Amino acid sequence: MNTPVEGFSKLSKEEKIDWIANNCTKDPKVTKLLLEQYWNPDPEIQKKHDEFIENTISNYYLPFAVAPNFLINDKLYAIPMAIEESSVVAAASKAAKYWLQRGGFKAEVVGTEKVGQVHFMFHGDTKKLQRFFDDLKPSLLESTASITKNMEKRGGGIKNIELRDLSDKVKGYHQLHCTFETLDAMGANFINSCLEQFAKTLKEKASTCEDFTSKEKDIEVVMSILSNYVPNCLVRAEVSCPVSALDEDDLPADVFAEKMVQAVEIAKVEPYRAVTHNKGVMNGIDAVILATGNDFRAVEAGVHAYASKQGSYSSLTHASIEDGVFKFWIEVPLALGTVGGLTSLHPLVKLALEILQNPSAKELMQIVAVAGLAQNFAALRSLVTTGIQKGHMKMHLLNMLNQMGATESEKKQLVQYFKNNTVTNASVKEALQKIQSQ
Ligand code: MEV
Repeated sequence: MNTPVEGFSKLSKEEKIDWIANNCTKDPKVTKLLLEQYWNPDPEIQKKHDEFIENTISNYYLPFAVAPNFLINDKLYAIPMAIEESSVVAAASKAAKYWLQRGGFKAEVVGTEKVGQVHFMFHGDTKKLQRFFDDLKPSLLESTASITKNMEKRGGGIKNIELRDLSDKVKGYHQLHCTFETLDAMGANFINSCLEQFAKTLKEKASTCEDFTSKEKDIEVVMSILSNYVPNCLVRAEVSCPVSALDEDDLPADVFAEKMVQAVEIAKVEPYRAVTHNKGVMNGIDAVILATGNDFRAVEAGVHAYASKQGSYSSLTHASIEDGVFKFWIEVPLALGTVGGLTSLHPLVKLALEILQNPSAKELMQIVAVAGLAQNFAALRSLVTTGIQKGHMKMHLLNMLNQMGATESEKKQLVQYFKNNTVTNASVKEALQKIQSQ
């Protein structure tokens, strides 16, 4: 039975593991598992991992893979992916090869604007607040000069600060809606530091504003925080080819193209399908985001908000057939960084970026959008032709065999056997038992 614990964070890692072993599990091998099997033998590397978060007791591994042969804007990339789900990397690689033979992917960054807001309450004359804000703007910029200095030297910084009146929605609610350019950094720390300084300056200046009544002087700052909704930090990726070049084993090219367009049209109007459709897109996007040390929760939140921007949840990808040309594209908001954060701290993140030829944040946006598009293309291609299970269960076969404790030689025989037989949990169990009884 788990019991409350005092001062857990102050315990050493070994003591924390002891506490887990004594209170949370009956597994006698837990200490070995945490302290030996998943602990990095290099103390330097282990220390880095320990310090990423609090209360670290071990490392949690995900497979780190590479999907090669992505031709993006005429440059060839091998894309690193960190993901637990079988089939995703295989599907990405297959889509990469497919489009390599058809001209590759084209990608462009539409915008790189990041957003942050100071949310505050003002009860009084809105016109006076607007006048006060017009005077305040230079002071806001001045008060953040030491934070923005380096970013400005590189061409980034604060782009705009706007006063927004939302008091019709929440009594007294106003905001400073601010936009930023953070170049190769994701920019969360930069943006939040600027916003907290804006909030301080706003409150201070309001408290001495002669135009304000004492009630108006008392601006109440509720919070200052960046927004993960970044519709203007947008990237577009695309593939296209003549319909006749879409040769499939199972379908004539024109029927295949038509079915692909129909699959996208369905995801545009049917939220139940759109969520799964976009989940497939995110299989590709999240895997690269994780491998490159970016914040997948931020990207997930922003992408799904973007998918709902018309008021109903819809597809992130689009498809058309015009004048005999099949076109398939994606538009996604992606606030990414290739400097700062984990990028120089996590050895595998560093390697992932090196494998990607040390991209700028803009290049990484293009690569990640392509990974999402490729994943969606591969999923739809399976869905409208053979069905998803054929490929999926084949990939899942090894997981099942591992779970059933099959030996290497049994796995080899069964992979061969299931090349021509349907993979189900029952059929795999039966085939394994048959081999084992021989
Ligand atoms: C599975 O992880 C993803 C798919 O369901 C995506 C889709 O249905 O488009 C195959």
